[in-house]
Amino acid sequence: MVNIRRLIARLARLGRRIYLLFCVIVFIIIATNYNKKMFLNETIKEKSSKPKLTTVYKVPSCVYKVPSHYIKEHVSTARAKLNYQLSFYNFSLNLDNLVMESGGRPLRSLILSTWKSGTTFLGEILNAIPGSYYFYEPLLMYGIKQIREREQPEADIALHTITSLLKCNYETLKKYLEFARERVDQLRRNTRIWHHCKFMKHLCCDFEFMSQICMLFPFQVMKLVRLRLKLIPKILDDKELNVKLIFLVRDPRGMMHSRRNVEFCPNTTDCGDPKIACQDMLNDYVAARDLLQKYPGRLMVIRFEELAMEPYDVSLRILKFLGHSVTGPVYEYLNKHTNATKPFSNTYRVSSRVPFKWKNKMDFVAVSEIQEVCKLAMKKWGYKMAFNETHMRSEDFNPLDNYTI
Ligand SMILES: *[C@@H]1O[C@H](CO)[C@@H](O)[C@H](O)[C@H]1NC(C)=O
Ligand SMILES: *[C@@H]1O[C@H](CO)[C@@H](O)[C@H](O)[C@H]1NC(C)=O
Ligand SMILES: *[C@@H]1O[C@H](CO)[C@@H](O)[C@H](O)[C@H]1NC(C)=O
Ligand SMILES: *[C@@H]1O[C@H](CO)[C@@H](O)[C@H](O)[C@H]1NC(C)=O
Repeated sequence: MVNIRRLIARLARLGRRIYLLFCVIVFIIIATNYNKKMFLNETIKEKSSKPKLTTVYKVPSCVYKVPSHYIKEHVSTARAKLNYQLSFYNFSLNLDNLVMESGGRPLRSLILSTWKSGTTFLGEILNAIPGSYYFYEPLLMYGIKQIREREQPEADIALHTITSLLKCNYETLKKYLEFARERVDQLRRNTRIWHHCKFMKHLCCDFEFMSQICMLFPFQVMKLVRLRLKLIPKILDDKELNVKLIFLVRDPRGMMHSRRNVEFCPNTTDCGDPKIACQDMLNDYVAARDLLQKYPGRLMVIRFEELAMEPYDVSLRILKFLGHSVTGPVYEYLNKHTNATKPFSNTYRVSSRVPFKWKNKMDFVAVSEIQEVCKLAMKKWGYKMAFNETHMRSEDFNPLDNYTI
């Protein structure tokens, strides 16, 4: 009797499983066909106009409206996945208070710096924390340009873009969404939503989807290289945001050396000219000192060289400052990307040697040209001069000095 009952129960369970499997298969078939239908037209168009790689994600504009039930499905999948991933960690914070969807306020971290100063590395470190939603370079669309003053024509829209994103309000950011669709970097780095965007271009073009998915995440990370510190008070003053800020600075010689190797930089004034770069460094110094006084506990200043030399210690300090309690995934990331067994294979591999490569690679004439226009900025941020080539190349020359701010 008991055995028969058990058997029936088992059969019922088996039946349920088969039914579930069936549902999943049907769903997959429907979903793939749905995707195909949606993208067939544009894929053909892309193929005929430009045959190569980069066009795969490139679509002229975000005109398609995604049906709301489809958005709902994707958002609930994302929610379930996120909750599952978060369940492995022991957050000392109460995550419910950090999820916008349920009326909370996320832990928001901003990384501010300039080109080739280690923001990608630090951005990835923070993005390693489970539950992070990563806004990668929201001002990418301005090109190779710094936004320094409120009077600049781009300033208001740039600040509006930043605050709207942090509030998960994509509704007014049409240009941003269209640009992100062309420059996939902007979304691809947001690893936790990228799989939705990768095959469903229209989805990540849809402001409702983007807003809803953004509101699921307890942590936000944003990295910016096109905005100077002087404009930051507008963001710090926003009580609703409660942003914390990491300002990253780098030795101008290492920075300019790195910049010379990227194609977008050399012929532009804001990125290629050491004099302008160092004027920015100096202005940032003044602004940082000001902000540290006026907004205690909201800004942390880090030199890239220190982060690269002591990635574990400095990352821990940064996480503490930002209010993060889970460190395991960050250590895992650092083990992968700083503990070099291979030579540096990509931009994410950073070791203690990286910040000082310029000492052996750069021509002393170029170095002294930079030093000439960067004297004051280097003094303020604690970078020592190299006197001559022998001095520069010598192992004993440590470019780092103490500094106060
Ligand atoms: C979770 O964190 C609390 C408080 O820090 C600690 O007491 C507890 O042992 C941790 N649990 C696990 C499974 O790590
Ligand atoms: C930059 O300018 C130099 C000389 O002025 C030129 O040879 C080079 O092609 C330019 N590079 C780019 C990327 O425009
Ligand atoms: C590198 O990896 C080893 C073993 O996984 C670990 O003990 C060490 O702390 C890591 N970091 C550095 C900077 O060596
Ligand atoms: C280079 O500079 C160092 C430090 O000022 C000095 O001691 C040394 O004599 C200089 N060497 C040459 C070749 O000028």
